[in-house]
Amino acid sequence: MGSTEQNPSQRNQTALVEFILLGFSDIPNLQGFLFGLFLVIYVIILIGNSLILIITKTDPSLQTPMYFFLGNFSFLEICYVSVTIPRLLADLCRHTRSISFLACAMQMYVFLVLGLTECFILTAMAYDRYVAICRPLLYPLVMSNKVCIQLAGGCWVSGIPVHIGFTYCIFSLPFCGRNQLHHFFCDIPAVLTLVCGDTFFIEMLIHVIALLVVTIPFLLILGSYVKIISTILKLPTTTGHAKAFSTCSSHLMVVALFFGSGIITYLRPKSIQSTETDKFISLFYTIVTPMFNPMIYCLRNKDVMVALKKFLLKCFFCDSKLMTL
Ligand SMILES: *[C@@H]1O[C@H](CO)[C@@H](O)[C@H](O)[C@H]1NC(C)=O
Repeated sequence: MGSTEQNPSQRNQTALVEFILLGFSDIPNLQGFLFGLFLVIYVIILIGNSLILIITKTDPSLQTPMYFFLGNFSFLEICYVSVTIPRLLADLCRHTRSISFLACAMQMYVFLVLGLTECFILTAMAYDRYVAICRPLLYPLVMSNKVCIQLAGGCWVSGIPVHIGFTYCIFSLPFCGRNQLHHFFCDIPAVLTLVCGDTFFIEMLIHVIALLVVTIPFLLILGSYVKIISTILKLPTTTGHAKAFSTCSSHLMVVALFFGSGIITYLRPKSIQSTETDKFISLFYTIVTPMFNPMIYCLRNKDVMVALKKFLLKCFFCDSKLMTL
């Protein structure tokens, strides 16, 4: 068997090779159920967002900035959930749940970059609505094709440099001994619980970055919707009020859910964190809002529904024609 005695520095080096993602292994008799549940959710997210992406690209009536952002957002959601759910599904069906140090860092990095892109695109979508409703005369000028593409491009690339440095900082901290992550993916708070030594600086950094990139977009979105609602209320006709209200409130609900759970997770001091509640809260920004976002942005929108029906009818018509051939 050899010697089981190791000095602490040797243990440090062996622990650095990999982490164990415990995920939901604390409820062993629900593994099959959870696998089915997350698989269904994943398929719903993929199909729903792909449909939106296709119709916003192909339907002639949906060639406006709003639908450009919606299509881009749907594509982003597909990428975003694909960072966490496939790995979670694989972990639910096997016994070894180890993830290498590098894979863990990569997962955290890509997840953070796409999460930031999501914050920014949601902000751009709110800004688009704000200009369209509150500054209708300026709208064609402000939201030209070129501006939209640049705005979306900016949203996609802005997280890349920030998070390289940030992820590097986290993974260059000293890890020792323990390597079990009580989480289903490599999220910051879970990884930080395994760091030994002083995490004060990195926690301050997390708070500053979270304040800048999560709280500010959230306040901008909130401000846009407040302006939109007050503008709508000033309009003479009352018929449109209720409808505009319900649309805005459902958008705001999704935004609040996504940003709220993100702010709770990343802005809370480590001292009052519990891994169980973290795992639960993170389900909201990783899975729940990506599932409901497209539905809420589309199902209440008549143009999207019409385009969707047209597209599905066309599909079924082609299919039946192929079958009869
Ligand atoms: C989203 O926007 C970016 C930047 O404008 C663009 O490069 C990308 O092709 C868009 N993706 C989709 C699927 O529309």
